Amino acid sequence: MTKIAVFASGQGSNLQALIDASAKGELPARIELVVSDRRGCYALTRAEEAAIETLVLSPADYESRSQYEAIILEKLLELQIEYLVLAGFMRLIGPTLLAPYPERIINIHPSLLPLFPGKDAIGQALAAEVTETGVTIHYVDEGMDTGPIIAQERISVNPGEDRRSLEGRIHALEHHLYPKVLKQIFTGGNANGKTRTN
Ligand code: GRF
Repeated sequence: MTKIAVFASGQGSNLQALIDASAKGELPARIELVVSDRRGCYALTRAEEAAIETLVLSPADYESRSQYEAIILEKLLELQIEYLVLAGFMRLIGPTLLAPYPERIINIHPSLLPLFPGKDAIGQALAAEVTETGVTIHYVDEGMDTGPIIAQERISVNPGEDRRSLEGRIHALEHHLYPKVLKQIFTGGNANGKTRTN
């Protein structure tokens, strides 16, 4: 069983999908820790309900990112965490965590990267009036949603589709794709290069 930490700042619906997949035996991983930078976010409630240990750190309480990440790293090493899985963690990862976890930090983003990186990717796609968008899973580097792509899946944007509808469909896709791709990574099916799942 791969030991993972999930990083989340928000609703935690992807965290929930991973908790559920792990409980059903569909994801060969144990979520040992949930890390959050936002006290009170719903992802933390989900972690507590699943009896997963949480680590909540507010970056404002630290002088630098490296200090903040050093505290997280200490906990990750103590729990022998093998992979960091970002699921709506709204913060860039720095060298203090990247160096000890090369190609072991993974993120999910709601667009077909390199299109629409950063905040509100779904809003950006709607504003650009694209006819298709999707979901990308990638390794994390120091940039904003710039690391090597592991998997992408695309969906069409329906004519006149509103944000709520598109967001719902993208989230459903994420909840299906993230456990599936992580399973491939943890079982060695995707050691190098891209896996296109569509
Ligand atoms: C997801 O759309 C994910 O792709 C992005 O942030 C959102 C998190 O949603 N990185 P949730 O907190 O998992 O519900």
